[in-house]
This record gives sequence, structure tokens and C-alpha cells, in this order.
Amino acid sequence: MQAAADRASIQTLPPLLVDQIAAGEVVERPSSVVKELLENAVDAGATRIVIDAEEGGGALVRVSDDGGGIPADQLGLALSPHATSKLRDADGLAAIATLGFRGEALASIASVARVRVVSRPPGEELAAAIEQAGGPPGPVAPLAAPAGTTVEVRDLFFNVPARRRFLRAAPTEYGRIAATVQQSAMTHPRVGFRLTHNGRVTLELPAGQDPWERGVAILGRDLDDALLRLDRDEPGWKGASPMRVLALLGRPEIGRASSKFQHFSVNGRPVRDRQLVHALKEAYRGLMPADRQPVAAVHLTLDPAAVDVNVHPTKAEVRFRDAGAAHSLIRAACRERLLAEDLTPALHPRTAGGSGPNRPRSAAQGFELREPSPSRASFDYAATRDELDRLADAPAGQRGAAGAGGPAVAGPPRKVVQFSDSFLVTEDAEGLLVIDQHALHERVMFEKLWKRILGEGKPLEKQRLLVPVTVTADAGRQALLDDLAPLLESLALELEPMGPRTLAVQAFPTLLKSRGVAVGPFVEGLLDAAENGDLAGPADAGGRVTEAALAAVLDMMSCKAAVKAGDRLSGPELDELLRLRDEVERSSSCPHGRPTTLRLTWNELRHRFGR
Ligand SMILES: Nc1ncnc2c1ncn2[C@@H]1O[C@H](COP(=O)(O)OP(=O)(O)OP(=O)(O)O)[C@@H](O)[C@H]1O
Ligand SMILES: [Mg+2]
Repeated sequence: MQAAADRASIQTLPPLLVDQIAAGEVVERPSSVVKELLENAVDAGATRIVIDAEEGGGALVRVSDDGGGIPADQLGLALSPHATSKLRDADGLAAIATLGFRGEALASIASVARVRVVSRPPGEELAAAIEQAGGPPGPVAPLAAPAGTTVEVRDLFFNVPARRRFLRAAPTEYGRIAATVQQSAMTHPRVGFRLTHNGRVTLELPAGQDPWERGVAILGRDLDDALLRLDRDEPGWKGASPMRVLALLGRPEIGRASSKFQHFSVNGRPVRDRQLVHALKEAYRGLMPADRQPVAAVHLTLDPAAVDVNVHPTKAEVRFRDAGAAHSLIRAACRERLLAEDLTPALHPRTAGGSGPNRPRSAAQGFELREPSPSRASFDYAATRDELDRLADAPAGQRGAAGAGGPAVAGPPRKVVQFSDSFLVTEDAEGLLVIDQHALHERVMFEKLWKRILGEGKPLEKQRLLVPVTVTADAGRQALLDDLAPLLESLALELEPMGPRTLAVQAFPTLLKSRGVAVGPFVEGLLDAAENGDLAGPADAGGRVTEAALAAVLDMMSCKAAVKAGDRLSGPELDELLRLRDEVERSSSCPHGRPTTLRLTWNELRHRFGR
């Protein structure tokens, strides 16, 4: 305890110190200065913005725009804290339509750097300039300058050495500036941008682009073919406000190792938001391996009152009034767009070897030969087919022909040949198809099971076990059962505690049983996954199975039940597998996101043979 006499007395902090402390929240590094100045330029209606940086922005950041400018008599106010032309009252705060609203950015920057603002509203003859460097603002001086505003920020943190020490080497800081400019440019395609570093032009984007042109210009022209366009107006859904989703979605095969190539914006504000990243990732579920991240630019426009931007000092996060609905809506819109496309990756020589930063990832890299199974798994095809037919939801007439006598193949019969007991080779109108039999069968099963449980709300068909199978499970595992109940029910799995360390499996899904999947190991695998948190939130608050948990278990199920590499298939079995392929959408990748099919196009073959 401090003696009363030693105790420092409570004092109000001097205003400059208050500003510097506040600045810490907004201005962390040169790129934060760039972000604030870009926002101001956009808010001012600029059509062209020039950003110059020197030494990673630590020495100089200068942003010039051709927007509405600041009248000379308001220049001093622009630099004072809590002074803004963008917000008047609390009602305004509930529905913010400008990027800035706190009236704090310029004041914060001016408390930790040497700032000079030169501005001329288009209607004025003369511009005016003001300077401030960690003290009160200087006098306003008239001068000649083009219409618009230039803000120059030199020697960031010159008066806060503790902060300056946290800055990284110039190239790193410059990298962040470039990323900030790209984000802003992505979000404002009509505005022209030019960025220079140490006098060298590093980015030049013309004014008047549309979101697609701008997206391609930023993500890389070489990716143009691999970017799908989405523009969708979502009416209000489950009480959520209407939303426009405008996006460029990279084909799964150009997925990257990091989510750096994702741009999101909400009402013209670039945001980095975990929910949005998650919704996008979910849209690609099963279409790309879990360790790859989609390449995408997603722009959302909705009623400003439906989203709160005042959550984070740098406004990088947003809060949707109905986060759940927004998440589903974005996921569904993106997913539908992806599924509308034939996502079969082309076997293309240009992509086959490349793994450089701008090269699309080779589809072939994800296409690996599995170890052949030691003995041919018992493959009772007829039983499986009947089971799958029961699971499928196609109209009865369409599937009546698929009786025991043989599969019905839609359209003219195709040649199909199995190689290495693992791969099927066949053709379609566009080229030669090489199919991974296990991956395809797994995909088909997954889809059918998914449709049945989620689409139709029906649990799987259940087979009671004559003799229950026991599985060891300590108290911790037994405690998981309550949480897992809705999931187990839809999977047709009945587990009951049988003594303190044992669970009895009383019923098992017919499909797995008919495919000879061992009960004990499967249930143990499921409990392991639940214990590791891989089935996080197996049910939602309403006791419904969550999609993530269901997808994880159906992955396991379809992998176990599918034909293996090494299984020799008969002619009718091959035809049947192809029929199922046609039936199931998006069969071009397995539930783990590996491709099921590669296509060597006729064009490619002609080209290769010099024809
Ligand atoms: N480039 C510019 N062109 C025209 N006016 C500007 C420009 N930059 C700043 N201003 C004016 O100065 C005011 C203060 O800017 P500042 O960035 O400090 O606050 P803000 O943008 O209102 O809110 P926030 O702190 O959230 O950014 C703005 O409200 C605006 O009127
Ligand atoms: Mg601002």
C-alpha cells in the first residue's frame, strides 16, 4: 500500500497528452495515417487520389484529392479534436453513411506528426494552408493551389519515441500502405488511385472502373478467367434487411495458403471481419481443401441502420444487427454462384508447374494417388445402389429404370475405362475426364446424405444391432452425449451409457452397415472428433444440428463408405458411378476439397499435338 503522502494527486491531463493517448487508438503506423486520409478524400467526393510515401511512410505520407475541399475559415477546426462535418446528432450515429464520423483522425495525426493541410474548395479562388506539429495549430495562410485537398504528414511519432520504436523496416511499413490503398481502391472502383513510394509509381488505377474491372486489376489480370462474377439483390430474409452482394469469387483451384487475397467491404468501407471471412469460407466448403483460402472480393450494401460501424476505433470491424442472417445470406449467395459453375479444373500446362505468388495453384497438386487398400473391400454394389437410390430425392419416374437389371445411364452411353483399379477415364463434350473413383464416390455419398438430412430433414435409415457393440468411454466422453444428441439422432446412431466406462452402440446407419464399415472404430472416431472440438457446436441454440458439425461427420462417413482406390469395378458399377456423378451437382471435388475429376480439354489436346 502506498502511504497517503507518497500518493500522486489526481490531475486532469493536458489536452495534447489526451490527444496523443487517443491517437494511439487510431494511428498505429503509417498505413493507419493513409487509411484515415483516404477515407477523408473519399468522403470529400474525390474522383482521383494520389498517395505519396517516403521511407515506408515514416518520413512522409501525402494524400492529395480533387474533392470538395475545406473552406479557409474551417481549416483550424478540421485539425481540432471532435470536430467533424459528417455527424450532427445521435440519430446520425445510428445510420452512418460516410466513412468518417468521429472528427478525430486529423487531430490525432497532428498530435503525433508534423502535419500540413492545403485546401481549396472548387468555388474559391485561393487555397489556404495550415500547419501543426504536436502543438497548437499555426495560422492559416492563403496560397495558390489546385482545387481539392492535400494533407502532408511528416516524421510520424517524432514526439513519441516509444511509438516510433514499434515501427518496422520501411519495406514492411510500405507493404502495409500498399495493402491499405488496395483495399480502398477495391472498394471505390470509380475513384482513380496512384501510389508512389520514394518517387516511384507502384500502383496506378484509372478512374471510372466498375467493380469487376477494379477487382481484376487488383487481384491480377492473369486470374481474370478464374474469377466468377456475382451480383445479387437479396430481399430481406428472416427479418434481415435487404442486401446487395456484389463479388468476384476465385475458382477453388486458385485458392491460396492465406486469406490475404480476400477483400470485403460493407457500405463502401473496407473491413476485415472474422464473420465475413468465415461466411466466405463456408461458401467454399467441400470445394477446396480446408487449408486453402478463397481468393475473393465481396462487397455488401445494406441499410446503414442494419449495421454498426462504430465498434472499433479504426472501424475495421462491423457489427450486423442480425449477424446470423447476414452470415447465411452471404454464404448462400456465394455458394449458389459457385455451384452454378462447372468447377472441374482444367489440366493446363500453364498452371501445372507454377506455384509463384501470382500463379494459380495447380489442380494436379491436390490430386494424389491413395495407397491401394491391401485387399479388395467387399463392395456390394447392388446394396449400395439401392441404398443411395432411397436416399436420393430425384422424382420416382426418373429413377424407376435403375432396377436390379442394370443402371440407367442418362443420354448416350459413354465409354469408361478403369485404370490402376483407381481411376476412371471417360469423356464429355469438352474433353477427356480423369476421375478419382474414391473421391467421386465419396462426393456422391456426401451430397446425398447431406440433402437427406439437411434438405429434407430426415434422419438416416437405421439398423438395430442384434448384439450391441461396446466402446470404452470415460466420464468426459459420456458427458459429450447430451450435446451430441441431435447429431446422433440424424445420423441414426444410438449410443447408451453402459456402466461408468462403457458405451453401447444399439443402432447404426444402414448405409455404413451395408458398406461393411466397422461400428466400434467409427464411433470412436466420432467421439474423438467431438472431444477435439472438431464438431464444435454440434447443435445450435434451437437444438438443430449445425451445418459444420454435420459436414464433419458426413465427411467421415462418406470416406469410410466409398469405394477405395484398389477396388476393381465391373462395367455396370462404372456406369452407375458415372450416372451418380451426373446426378450430383458439383461433383468436381470431393468433400475434402480435392478434385474428383480433372479435364484435359479437346482444345488443349489439339494444341498439344500441334493441330
Ligand atoms: N480531404 C478532405 N477534403 C475535404 N474535407 C476534409 C478532408 N479531410 C478532412 N476534411 C474535413 O475535416 C473534418 C475532420 O476530419 P477528420 O478525419 O479528423 O474527422 P472525420 O473524417 O469527420 O471523422 P473520423 O475521425 O471518423 O475520420 C472532416 O469532417 C471534414 O469536414
Ligand atoms: Mg476522417
